[in-house]
Amino acid sequence: MKKIVINSRQEMANLAKEIALQAKIGDVIGLKGTLGAGKSFFAKNFVNALSEKPREVLSPTFNLVYSYEAKVGEVFHFDLYRLKSADELENIGFFDALHNGISLIEWPEIAEGFLKKNYLEIEIKTIAGANEEVREVFLKKK
Ligand SMILES: Nc1ncnc2c1ncn2[C@@H]1O[C@H](COP(=O)(O)OP(=O)(O)O)[C@@H](O)[C@H]1O
Ligand SMILES: [Mg+2]
Repeated sequence: MKKIVINSRQEMANLAKEIALQAKIGDVIGLKGTLGAGKSFFAKNFVNALSEKPREVLSPTFNLVYSYEAKVGEVFHFDLYRLKSADELENIGFFDALHNGISLIEWPEIAEGFLKKNYLEIEIKTIAGANEEVREVFLKKK
């Protein structure tokens, strides 16, 4: 496990970009953290690092997934917070995405049993009392 202290949005954007540029088709990245931690912010910067033009990246809160055509292939951005049942995973193309694209998954713990064994878990934590932009990021290769 690796721990990184992030001091600003810019540093988080840089981290997302660095990880994005190493990603390849079939890679799965779980984004953990409470509401407002910065999971969607990370995803937005990840997608943009791989896009030719700036993309609007909205949080897939209700749709559960959005996908983006990137230089290296398709990037899927899931938010499983509102997943109602495991059946729904099939309907939203979850399993196909794991194989055919690069998948970013907010709230991966909800589908833990369905995730392949080797994925990268990124946990983002705010720090009580610290500046509003400070985060601790824990990188764990599962
Ligand atoms: N270092 C940082 N990293 C990520 N987001 C940050 C940071 N500092 C401030 N923020 C802000 O925190 C909010 C995180 O929201 P969001 O990414 O939607 O959270 P989540 O998806 O985890 O619920 C955004 O408004 C973002 O601008
Ligand atoms: Mg989010």
